[in-house]
Amino acid sequence: MMIPEAISAKLNEQTTAEFEASHKYLAMACALDQMGMKILSKWFVRQAAEEREHAMQFIDYLQQVGASVVLDAVPKPKEKNRTVKEIVQAALDSELAITQRINELAALCEAENDYATRSFVNKFVDEQVEEVSTMTDLLEMVELAGDNLLQIEMHLQYEMTAKG
Ligand SMILES: [Fe+2]
Ligand SMILES: [Fe+2]
Repeated sequence: MMIPEAISAKLNEQTTAEFEASHKYLAMACALDQMGMKILSKWFVRQAAEEREHAMQFIDYLQQVGASVVLDAVPKPKEKNRTVKEIVQAALDSELAITQRINELAALCEAENDYATRSFVNKFVDEQVEEVSTMTDLLEMVELAGDNLLQIEMHLQYEMTAKG
């Protein structure tokens, strides 16, 4: 293994955190679907797939450097009976928590002089800037829409069609 033990442990933790984010977003997508928010639900399904992809990238990196992949249990999501705004706020909070974790991982790489992992982690540092920005925009849009939830659906439909 070409990386320190402490780093591979942290990378494994991050793998689980990404699966947890994916699981959480999928639960949010299901709750939103049940509320009739079909487009926002689809948006969260996409987000869940993206988080799973992040987890796969951590697994791939661990394998590349010859470290063991140790998958942990993913906590049960608690998204029952939430409003749209509460769901989006929880998603933003989750992204902020992940950002904190990624920063800790980057700091540990520097403390351990593990420049290979530091370099790998960099795309997640950048990714988190994008993710927090996206969730902040979504929350602002939800706040602007107020009680007019259909406005959120129409806006997202427009955005998703434009971006593909
Ligand atoms: Fe992620
Ligand atoms: Fe994310």
